[in-house]
Amino acid sequence: MKVLIAGGSGFIGRSLIDRLVQAGHTAVILTRRPAMTDIPPNPSIRSLHWDARSVGEWWQVVNDTDAIINLAGEAIAAKRWTVAQKDRISTSRIDATRTVVRAIEKATRKPKVLISASGIGYYGDVREGDLDESSPHGDDFFARLSLQWESEALRAEKHAVRVVTLRTGIVLHPGGGAMKKFHLPFKFFVGGPLGPGTQWMSWIHREDAIRAMLFALENQSLSGPLNITAPYPVTMREFCRTLGSALRRPSWIPVPGFALRLVLGEMADVVLKGQRAVPRRLLQAGFSFKFPQLEQAMSDLMS
Ligand SMILES: NC(=O)c1ccc[n+]([C@@H]2O[C@H](COP(=O)([O-])OP(=O)(O)OC[C@H]3O[C@@H](n4cnc5c(N)ncnc54)[C@H](OP(=O)(O)O)[C@@H]3O)[C@@H](O)[C@H]2O)c1
Repeated sequence: MKVLIAGGSGFIGRSLIDRLVQAGHTAVILTRRPAMTDIPPNPSIRSLHWDARSVGEWWQVVNDTDAIINLAGEAIAAKRWTVAQKDRISTSRIDATRTVVRAIEKATRKPKVLISASGIGYYGDVREGDLDESSPHGDDFFARLSLQWESEALRAEKHAVRVVTLRTGIVLHPGGGAMKKFHLPFKFFVGGPLGPGTQWMSWIHREDAIRAMLFALENQSLSGPLNITAPYPVTMREFCRTLGSALRRPSWIPVPGFALRLVLGEMADVVLKGQRAVPRRLLQAGFSFKFPQLEQAMSDLMS
């Protein structure tokens, strides 16, 4: 299969591309960089330049593409959330998704499937109860963004393209994402839960996240939203306790929510809010998790 990956140069994309190539597929990365010089030379991987906002010459590759995976968007926790940064977080996702769908519209031969990123933030801040793909969306910044992000992707259905939106939880791997940020304070013996500790964290081992994406790619009966989360979410307190014990460090210095808000501003919501998402549709479709429990995942990730 030839797979086009928008935003394939990031934390999830790089690992996904490795796995696609191992499975015998070829990957074309859409990147804003003039050239991707940091990918190992491989005849199965190439990169094309785009600006993530307009349909340039690159669109022609869509005629020759079996599947598109869209991961592009401004990093969420890289900078303080000023009004301008929040706007970049939203606009980059909406524009990139709209641009991918416009390229599909233009292509004379359409891809069979579009797999497009979203997040469990879709559900908003929910303290109690399991959230599956039929649960309603929330009404905060992320929930509204995810709703719009998904509806841009779903426009490709008009062109008989199967669309899957990935409501991904916190992807765990020491190479990046949330774990890289949590790791440092624990390493220096000052780790502990952020905020009340009772907020839910819907996490997933990166390997399972990639396996679930390949499952969605190949399983033609799947369309619509998919929760990409492990079946057993944990509270923030439990997450920190498990991380501490995998690192042989105590989890003992809680950081109160007000202090986080002082330091991080509104971005603190990323860790202070939570939801208990469950991968109902993946399990119903027969997906089996390699790391369903956090302890197994942590001990693998730390080994
Ligand atoms: N990691 C997680 O735990 C997690 C959880 C839930 C959802 N997600 C979603 O999954 C997607 C991939 O996540 P990731 O962790 O791999 O993200 P990432 O490492 O930040 O990579 C995203 C890619 O998007 C491109 N990008 C960055 N800023 C952009 C902008 N302003 N406009 C257009 N493109 C831009 C970059 O590619 P170039 O620089 O090459 O253009 C980058 O490599 C994201 O949309 C994210 O919101 C991730």
